[in-house]
Amino acid sequence: MTPRYDFALALIREAGALALGYFHNLSSLTVKNKGPQDVVSEADLNTELLIKSRLAEAFPQDAFLGEETGVTAMAPGQGIWVVDPIDGTQPFVSGLSSWCVSIAYVQHGRVQFGMVFAPVRDELFAGGAGHPATLNGQPVKRHSGRSLRDGITGTGYNTRLGIEAFLRPFEGLLRAGGMFYRDGSGALMLCDVAAGRLLGYIEPHINSWDCLGAIGVIEAAGLRVNDFLANDGLTRGNPIIAGIPEVYDDLLALSLL
Ligand code: IPD
Ligand code: CA
Ligand code: CA
Repeated sequence: MTPRYDFALALIREAGALALGYFHNLSSLTVKNKGPQDVVSEADLNTELLIKSRLAEAFPQDAFLGEETGVTAMAPGQGIWVVDPIDGTQPFVSGLSSWCVSIAYVQHGRVQFGMVFAPVRDELFAGGAGHPATLNGQPVKRHSGRSLRDGITGTGYNTRLGIEAFLRPFEGLLRAGGMFYRDGSGALMLCDVAAGRLLGYIEPHINSWDCLGAIGVIEAAGLRVNDFLANDGLTRGNPIIAGIPEVYDDLLALSLL
């Protein structure tokens, strides 16, 4: 797996640099609405096309799934790259720093590795099977919290589900003495869990390209996350629950409210 891992580490920085160029010229970017609170620009498409073409050249035997271009044909046992060229598009077009590029490699029903790069912050999270969880090459540290009261918990919402699916766990979190955090990028907040900054993260529905890169890092850090690939999560998405072991069961209970 190492040739793919090393290749992806360099590629995600190259893709981040391309997206950062667009970010520095936001006023000349054409932003389109895909739906309510769902925007996209040529930065998203062109960053994905760069990643897709580099991977097709280096690993033509692999399949590809990206938010902007969809999925290529897939044979049983074949590895697949799962890419969100810009996660946190709302922060991106708003001039905020909380956006990133996310790349995961999935094979044999599991995330083999994942990586997430936040160019404005120059933070690269990476990890996977046989690869320790790192932030800019240094091992991540685990959050020292024992309960939901001991820190902050990331949350996310999109309009694919009704607001009740978000409000019930959200209310439960506050009633449990927890506190919420949202920066507009599910991938980055999940990496903040891996890096010991957040206790956990819950969102009632998220797509595979939003979270698989970060799941690779979370699993490598030895933290807990639900079986996201179950029930065809790769193409249909799923709820996401991730956290340090001390709060995971409480987060799972909140997600079922
Ligand atoms: C979104 C972000 C957001 C999450 C949504 C995603 P996008 O991705 O990750 O934090 O709550 O579910 O769709 O549109 O910025 O790529
Ligand atoms: Ca996304
Ligand atoms: Ca995106």
